[in-house]
Amino acid sequence: MTRFSHAEFPRARPRRLRSDAGVRRLVAESRLSADDLVWPLFIHADSGETAIEAMPGVRRLGATALLTAAERALELGIPAIALFPAIDPALKTADGREAWNEQGLVQHSIATIKQRFPELVIIADVALDPFTSHGQDGMIDDQARVLNDETIAVLIRQALSLAQAGADFVAPSDMMDGRVGAIRDALESAGHHDTRILAYAAKYASGFYGPFRAAVGSAQQLGNADKRTYQMDPANSDEALREVALDIAEGADAVMVKPGMPYLDIVSRVSQAFSVPTFVYQVSGEYTMLRTAVDNGLLDSSVIAESLLAFRRAGAAAILTYFAADVAAQL
Ligand code: PBG
Repeated sequence: MTRFSHAEFPRARPRRLRSDAGVRRLVAESRLSADDLVWPLFIHADSGETAIEAMPGVRRLGATALLTAAERALELGIPAIALFPAIDPALKTADGREAWNEQGLVQHSIATIKQRFPELVIIADVALDPFTSHGQDGMIDDQARVLNDETIAVLIRQALSLAQAGADFVAPSDMMDGRVGAIRDALESAGHHDTRILAYAAKYASGFYGPFRAAVGSAQQLGNADKRTYQMDPANSDEALREVALDIAEGADAVMVKPGMPYLDIVSRVSQAFSVPTFVYQVSGEYTMLRTAVDNGLLDSSVIAESLLAFRRAGAAAILTYFAADVAAQL
């Protein structure tokens, strides 16, 4: 590391490397490219599109709009999408069984996209919250405690149905202990050797997920309950390294840190400590903050790309962001 002391001035003038755009480009240490982006999309069983009030500019897509978005991703050079379903409340149950329905909304959507656009990478979430009548990511007991091992049995069925439908990645986002290993074993036994696991390894119990819960319709189900008995405490950093180490040992191909911007220190530590790709999720609340500030003229729209570049600088290999298409269109 070079250190500039006062004595070195004026021989050392860091501004020389900033004085024109060409040189700035030459010496840039990180770069943002459409190649690094994953576009999360909300889907529903209705044929039309509905606005999501908590996420200005984001819509729940029907089958036709989903195919249009998939095509747009490819045109913009975005390699991957991630699917999140808003499930008909009538299909929600205590055990979330709709999660592994082979004809379910997500499974059907994956198959349809894969038929039209086989080269588009599809990341499918593994967690029960869009499907449970109580909005938790897992099964609960009579005192509403979230059950770990019972939940894993359901997550396995869900992961297998998603792999069967053609998902390129299954992405457990539930934070149950031991689920990555159990899902890996089940995928191997079923012959899905090449289905990758993107583990939401360091996922914090965050208020920044609020708009997402409104988007998939789990907020109402959850009520005043929270997810702090399984998602991580925002106070912790060493614990994130332990979670990541466990998920890698259990067979995760890539790991995720979530949320993004308030957790850049975690992205940095994880990406330096491990040699699997670190994904980061710029979550719904981060999107809404930036979107509304830009839409109201309070911040310049350049903050969007800047926020994504910061993830790259911190060491992220890939970024899930609701801005993916907007940013890719500018790059
Ligand atoms: C649920 C899940 C959540 C998100 C992705 N998967 C919400 C939660 O854990 O409550 C949040 C994504 C976002 O806020 O954009 N398993």
